[in-house]
Amino acid sequence: MDLGGSNDAQADRSVPVVWSQQVSGDTNYLPACVTEADYLINLAELKGHSYGITHTSKNHFGTLMNSSRLRPLEAAGIHRYLTQNQMDAYTVLVDLMGNYQLGEKTMLYMLDAVICAPSEGSSITGENARWQQSPFNGGYASSLFFSQDPVAIDSVGADFLMNEPSVINRNSALRDNPNVENYLHEAGLVADAPSGSVYYNGNGERSEAPDTTSHRTLVVYYSLSRRTEDVVKRLQEKTNGDLYELVPSVPYTGGNNAISQRAREEVESENYPSLSGMPPDLSQYDTILIGGPVWNSTLASPLYTYLSETDFTGKTVAPFWTDQGTPGNYAQDFTDAVKSAVRVTEFLQLTNTTSIAEEDMSQRLDTWLEAVLE
Ligand SMILES: Cc1cc2nc3c(=O)[nH]c(=O)nc-3n(C[C@H](O)[C@H](O)[C@H](O)COP(=O)(O)O)c2cc1C
Repeated sequence: MDLGGSNDAQADRSVPVVWSQQVSGDTNYLPACVTEADYLINLAELKGHSYGITHTSKNHFGTLMNSSRLRPLEAAGIHRYLTQNQMDAYTVLVDLMGNYQLGEKTMLYMLDAVICAPSEGSSITGENARWQQSPFNGGYASSLFFSQDPVAIDSVGADFLMNEPSVINRNSALRDNPNVENYLHEAGLVADAPSGSVYYNGNGERSEAPDTTSHRTLVVYYSLSRRTEDVVKRLQEKTNGDLYELVPSVPYTGGNNAISQRAREEVESENYPSLSGMPPDLSQYDTILIGGPVWNSTLASPLYTYLSETDFTGKTVAPFWTDQGTPGNYAQDFTDAVKSAVRVTEFLQLTNTTSIAEEDMSQRLDTWLEAVLE
């Protein structure tokens, strides 16, 4: 700490931490470096603690500023809300996990489990840091954990600690005491918390379960004259999904008639154009939005290539297209070309995209996304 020095944190007095229940103690403020940040990365140590679990959520006890620069947590009066001996109880940890400046801004959680101490008060020794459970079998934990979900990462960390003889033989808070996980139950079910507590995000809104869907949507598209691409950019903004553009190895050139002629031959002969690059691994995605232009009353040929080469088993496929008003058989041809998807959603047709008003376009995309992203 650099109390009063140039590296000392400055409290942002406009951002007090608002708890969801009455907590008697000092008002806490967040440092300006937190309130000014666009996003946070939360790195905690995996270790035991006399209060039980002290992973990424309790990490934010170190983010609070109040009248006591040396003992802020005592001034804040919040240790008794760690609820390590009680199930179904309100806890400040859930408020920190859902706070609009903290949990809501956190994009990545990490646990450093390279060498783990059994408790905050014990020195690490060659003996107590050797873990007996499988797969460590007498070695150091030697692990790093990463997640976008604070409940998931803290739960996994808790499982390792609560099942590790080297830890529980030296730390009674973690021995046969499932109550240390109260905050994980409260957070995982935050909209209907087991304690009956109503949790807010510190800014007047109800807390919601952590949103880990952002990277489970992929948008695959082909676009010749960039109309579909314009729609794709909006979809990406709205879903926070990943993008994959289909790029034919031999570009389509020579004007509409030549392109139309080539495309017709490719579709009729089922000799679809080869694509450059490797398609993305779909295992991390639940929903694949697939879009392109209508060509000759059916799919543009690069879409046929992608659909014919891709196995969508278990995925939701959500098709959209752009056209000039005569889509012909696009919808049926698309459905016929998709292999094995668990669900092909309703289609989104966008005609003459450049003349659709901004607000109307946004509204239509929202309505469609709501239906396809369950
Ligand atoms: C070769 C070719 C064939 C087309 N055939 C059709 C068609 O059958 N029906 C239609 O409504 N639009 C047709 N169009 C228009 C495109 O579908 C429309 O302009 C689309 O929005 C273009 O999307 P893009 O800019 O992403 O390539 C065709 C365009 C081309 C280049």
